[in-house]
Amino acid sequence: MDAKTSEKVFYITTPIYYVNDIPHIGHAYTTIACDTMSRYKRMKGFDVHFLTGTDEHGQKIQAAAEKQGITPQALVDKIHLNFKELWKVLNISNNDFIRTTEERHIQVVQAIFKKLMDQGDIYKGTYEGHYCVPCETYVPESSMGPGGTCPDCGRPLTMMKEESYFFCGSKYVPQLIEYYEKHLNGVMPRIRYNEIMSFLRGEVHDQSVSRTTLKWGIPVPGDEKHVVYVWFDALINYVTAVGYLDDPEKFRHYWPAVRHMVGKDIIRFHCVIWPLMLLALGLPLPQTVIAHGWWTVDGEKMSKSKGNVVNPFTMVKDYGLDPFRYFLLREVPFGNDGDFSEAALVGRFNSDLANDLGNLLNRTLQMIENYRGGVVPEGKNKSDQNNIIGNVLKNVDEAMDCFAFDDALKEIWAFIGRANKYIDETMPWKLAKEQNNTEAMAELDLVLMNLYEALRLTALLVAPVMPQTAQRMWAQLGIEGDPLKEQYDNFHWGEGAGTKIQKTEVLFPRIDVKEWQKAREEKKMEEEKKAPAMEHEAEIEIDAFKAVEMRVAQIVKAEEIPKSRKLYKLEVDLGYEKRTVCSGIKAFFTPEELAGKRVILVTNLKPAKLCGIESNGMILAASVKVDGNAESLTLVAPEGNIPLGSRVS
Ligand code: MSP
Repeated sequence: MDAKTSEKVFYITTPIYYVNDIPHIGHAYTTIACDTMSRYKRMKGFDVHFLTGTDEHGQKIQAAAEKQGITPQALVDKIHLNFKELWKVLNISNNDFIRTTEERHIQVVQAIFKKLMDQGDIYKGTYEGHYCVPCETYVPESSMGPGGTCPDCGRPLTMMKEESYFFCGSKYVPQLIEYYEKHLNGVMPRIRYNEIMSFLRGEVHDQSVSRTTLKWGIPVPGDEKHVVYVWFDALINYVTAVGYLDDPEKFRHYWPAVRHMVGKDIIRFHCVIWPLMLLALGLPLPQTVIAHGWWTVDGEKMSKSKGNVVNPFTMVKDYGLDPFRYFLLREVPFGNDGDFSEAALVGRFNSDLANDLGNLLNRTLQMIENYRGGVVPEGKNKSDQNNIIGNVLKNVDEAMDCFAFDDALKEIWAFIGRANKYIDETMPWKLAKEQNNTEAMAELDLVLMNLYEALRLTALLVAPVMPQTAQRMWAQLGIEGDPLKEQYDNFHWGEGAGTKIQKTEVLFPRIDVKEWQKAREEKKMEEEKKAPAMEHEAEIEIDAFKAVEMRVAQIVKAEEIPKSRKLYKLEVDLGYEKRTVCSGIKAFFTPEELAGKRVILVTNLKPAKLCGIESNGMILAASVKVDGNAESLTLVAPEGNIPLGSRVS
C-alpha cells in the first residue's frame, strides 16, 4: 500500500507522554526536535500539522490517584498541565495537544476496536503472561529484570492467566515486510530499520489488547468488564487528532503524510504493532518512524534515585531557551545516544553562540554604524553570493530531510565561519580609511552588504532551532515582521540594501567559566544543605561495637520463601559451621546471582522467626532509599581471599 502524499503536506507527531512522570530532558528533546522540523517545513512552504499530547490511562495513574484519594480523572486533569506548561516555556509550536481521556479520542478507540472485532481481527482468548502482583501489571519477557523480576519494583513475577481480547496482527506481517522492503526510510535510522526487519522475520505473536485487572481505561465496546490495553489506546491518538472519525477531509489531507518521532525504546510499538493495526484498518502506513537515542547525564543513566534527572525548566532558567534548544540538537547526531552535561552546554554557548554567531552580528552592525551611518549600503557585485547561498540551502535541506539536525547546524555554522573569515580577509577597517579612493569605497559597500546579507540569511537558517534568537537578530538587522513567517525560497541576496539597522544588546554574553564553576559549587552546597538530614544513631562506646560479632561468610544457596515477597532463605557457610539466614534482598538478586557470594554476617544476633523459618544472623548490605524504600542495594563483601569465619572488627 503506497501512501499518496501531496508533496507539501507534513504531519509530525511526538509520542504522547505518560503523565505520571515529571517532564525531563528526554521529553523536551523529542518535542524540540519535532518543533524544529515543523518550523523548518513551514518555512519551506509546507502545510504542517504538529501534534503532541499526553497518555493518561493505565495502572500507575489509577494507583497514584487512589493514594491521593482523588479520581484518576481529577489527577490527570491536574498533572497533564506540567507538559502544557513546559511546551509554553520551550516555545513549542504544536498545532494540537491530544489527551487520551478526551471524548474525541475515546470514541475513535471504541470505533476502531469494534471495527476490528466485526471484521474478525480482534477475538476473545486467554492471556497468559508474567505478572507483577504489587504493580498489577504484565511485564513482557523483553522488559523483565534479572532473574525474571519486575523492571519497576524489582520483585519476582508470577505467571497469570486472564480472559483477554487479541488483535491478530500477525496475519498482516508479510504485507508489512513487503512494505518495508520497498520503503527503506519507513524506519530511520538504518540500525533501527534492521532491528525491526529482523523482529518481523522472527515469530510475531497476536497482541493482547484488553485487560480485566484494571479499571482506568477505555471500556471495550459491548464488554465493559474489559478496558482497552493502554498502548492500543495510545497509538490511536495519531489518527484521532486528524479527524479519523469526525473529519474525513482533514484525515485524507494529513494522514498519508505522517511522520512519527519516537525514542528508540518504543519502536516496536510504532514500527510493528501500529502499522499492523493500520494495515488491518486499510489505512496508509506512516512515511517514516524516526527513532532518536537516549540521553545519559554526565555519563550515567538518569534516575530519580541518583537525583540526576535534568529538569528542562531549570536549564532554560539558567542558560536561556535557545542555547538549550541549540545544544540538544547540535551536540549529538540524531539517532545516537548522547551525554548531557552542563559543562558541555557552557562550552557550546561560548564558542558557537557567543563567539561565532554573536560576534558576527556585533562586528557587522558596528561597522555599518561606524562607516555607513547605520544604513546598509548597496554593493555592486552580487552574482557569486547566489551560488554560495544556493549550496548552503541545499545542504541544510538534505540534512533536514534525514532528520540530521546536527549536520544542518554544522552547515549553518560553516557559513557563519566563512562570514567571520571574510571580515578578516577583507579588513573593512582598512578600506574605511581610504575615503577618497572610490574603488575602496565600492569594495567597502560590497563587503558590508555581503556581511549584512549573510546575517539576514543566518537569522532565517537558525530560526527553526532558535526562534527567539532569529527574532532578536531580525530586530537588530532593522527588518520589520517575523522571520518565522518568511520562506526560504523567497530569499534573494542584496534585498536588504538600504535598511536602517537597530543595533542593541549583545546576543549571547559570554559565560565566565570560572564564575560559572564557582556559582555551581555554591548551588550544590546549598542543595546539600536543603537535602533532608540523614538520620544518625546516638554515639556508642567501643565496647558496644565490639559486642557485635561479624564474620566473613559465603552464601551456599538462596531459596524462595513462597509466602514472602521480600525474603530469601539463605544457607551460609562460616567455615566452622553452616547456618540458615532469612534476608530481605529478594528484589535485588536472583538465587543464582547469590550462590557463591562472600558476605559479612552478624553472627551473634538473637535468632528470629521470619515467615516460619528461624533466621540465625544478618548479612550486611548498603542501600539507596527513596521515600523510605530501597531503590538499589549492594552487599558488603570482603576483598581478597580471606578465610571464611574471619572476624571483622
Ligand atoms: N506513553 C508512551 C508513548 C505512547 S506513544 C503512542 C511513552 N511515554 S514516555 O513518557 O515514557 O516516553 C516518551 C518518550 O520519551 C519516549 O520516546 C522515550 O524514548 C523518551 N525518553 C524518555 N527518557 C529519555 C531519555 N533519557 N533520553 C531521550 N529520550 C527519552 O513511552
